[in-house]
Amino acid sequence: MKSLFSTLLLVSLLLMIAPSFFLVDAAEAEAAAPAVTPSSNCNAMCNKRCEKAGIFKRCFSYCCVCCSKCNCVPSGTSGNKSECPCCRDMVNSKGKSKCP
Ligand SMILES: *[C@@H]1O[C@H](CO)[C@@H](O)[C@H](O)[C@H]1NC(C)=O
Repeated sequence: MKSLFSTLLLVSLLLMIAPSFFLVDAAEAEAAAPAVTPSSNCNAMCNKRCEKAGIFKRCFSYCCVCCSKCNCVPSGTSGNKSECPCCRDMVNSKGKSKCP
């Protein structure tokens, strides 16, 4: 029981001495975990979606905006927009579809 107590004391001392180390660690883990999965998915899906686009970079960047907002990208290189209604319904100020 005594050793458990001193272990706890040691741990809490460590936490007090090096809070920034632990905080950075936790923040990094938190930032990495949820962000990586959807965005890497979007990268892959948008790569496919824009494969045949005239201006890949432009298509890809719009696609990524749509994907991160909608969490989906229609399949194929064009059309199929009903698969992702959220993308289909995103329009710019001129009423044109924003998403590739
Ligand atoms: C729609 O998606 C399918 C695959 O899911 C694809 O084969 C087809 O080419 C796509 N349509 C268009 C117009 O790209």
